[in-house]
Amino acid sequence: MTISIGVIGTGNIFSAYMKTPKRFRQLTVVGVASSSPEAATPMATAFGLKAMAVEDLLASEATIILNLTPPLAHHAIGMKVLQAGKHLFTEKPLAASFAEGKELVALAKKRKLRMGCAPDTFLGAGAQATRAFIDSGTLGTIRHGTAHFMCHGPDHWHPNPNFFYQQGAGPLMDVGVYYVTHLVNHLGPVASVSGKAHTTYETRVIALGANQGKRIPVEVPTHIVTHLNFVSGAQIVLTSSFDIWKHGHAPIELYGDEGSLMGNDPNLFSGRIKFARQLGPWETLSEKRPYTSNARGIGLVDMALAIERNVQHRCNDSLALHVLEVMERALDAARTGSELRMTTRCQRPEPLSEKLF
Ligand SMILES: NC(=O)c1ccc[n+]([C@@H]2O[C@H](COP(=O)([O-])OP(=O)(O)OC[C@H]3O[C@@H](n4cnc5c(N)ncnc54)[C@H](O)[C@@H]3O)[C@@H](O)[C@H]2O)c1
Repeated sequence: MTISIGVIGTGNIFSAYMKTPKRFRQLTVVGVASSSPEAATPMATAFGLKAMAVEDLLASEATIILNLTPPLAHHAIGMKVLQAGKHLFTEKPLAASFAEGKELVALAKKRKLRMGCAPDTFLGAGAQATRAFIDSGTLGTIRHGTAHFMCHGPDHWHPNPNFFYQQGAGPLMDVGVYYVTHLVNHLGPVASVSGKAHTTYETRVIALGANQGKRIPVEVPTHIVTHLNFVSGAQIVLTSSFDIWKHGHAPIELYGDEGSLMGNDPNLFSGRIKFARQLGPWETLSEKRPYTSNARGIGLVDMALAIERNVQHRCNDSLALHVLEVMERALDAARTGSELRMTTRCQRPEPLSEKLF
């Protein structure tokens, strides 16, 4: 089987994805596009690929288009891709708003095309070991938990961090999305959300690159505390922040009737996972699974294989749309001071134990 893909967006995350065709040799990259062919040329040259105009890429033999543009462009690019009759795999979030996400899902359904969405880190060894451990019942029914994504924002390490402080990003939509996706993979869908949010600093200063020293506006909340009420009954408090220099919380902690678990960082494919039975000592959970290090693109490969096998892919649009609704409702709930119910539900994706590449 050979899968031809085209890539739109050749920025910061592009290089990480380009490792996938090297490891999964059935994947061939037809060409790469960006805002203009000239903008795509440096990365295309660096990776020995063809720089193309978006329209030419959409008319090419590529069967799947990988969308690596910033969140505010996800909807417009995604609609073009689907209208061109191509399957779409997009970086997170699915779209900058739930309404746009719904439009994408409706068009994909109408055109009978697959749509997949990052994050795919939940297919890594860490989250899959955690999921299997939860499913084994050792922790008993999971009642409560905490999740913490807290840092001081991307202005230290990203040369063009503007989009992180615009609609469709911020700490919840940009990185909290990994946490919400992992929690839904572990526990199932969310029933309702409530919380608080605020913007601590009105502007940020870019710390590196061509725009070093430039002050950029902050248009989204940068510290968000969300109470996630899962359909299963689990109550999880998620803090997503771009305002915190350091902290000492585990990324995810889950508390069940029979014990507690500390999960790995959902932004990574693995990490130390510990559990304790009731008052017993903390024990380390063995991962012993594939994909312990950066395997970005595994969700795309899983989708390509699922198309071939005519089965559901794991990073699917139903999961991505539910996660997008959870995040948007969390921000709405914080703004209005109310508890908001979800209109979407999704299945937990099938566990992954086999090696895809
Ligand atoms: N940077 C990271 O570490 C990282 C990690 C994981 C996920 N992501 C996600 O990947 C996506 C891209 O992030 P990035 O950091 O690479 O962004 P970036 O700003 O570095 O690059 C974006 C690319 O998209 C192109 N682009 C922008 N608008 C376009 C349009 N309308 N049409 C065609 N091309 C367009 C730009 O020219 C650029 O090549 C985002 O959704 C982000 O959330 C980024």
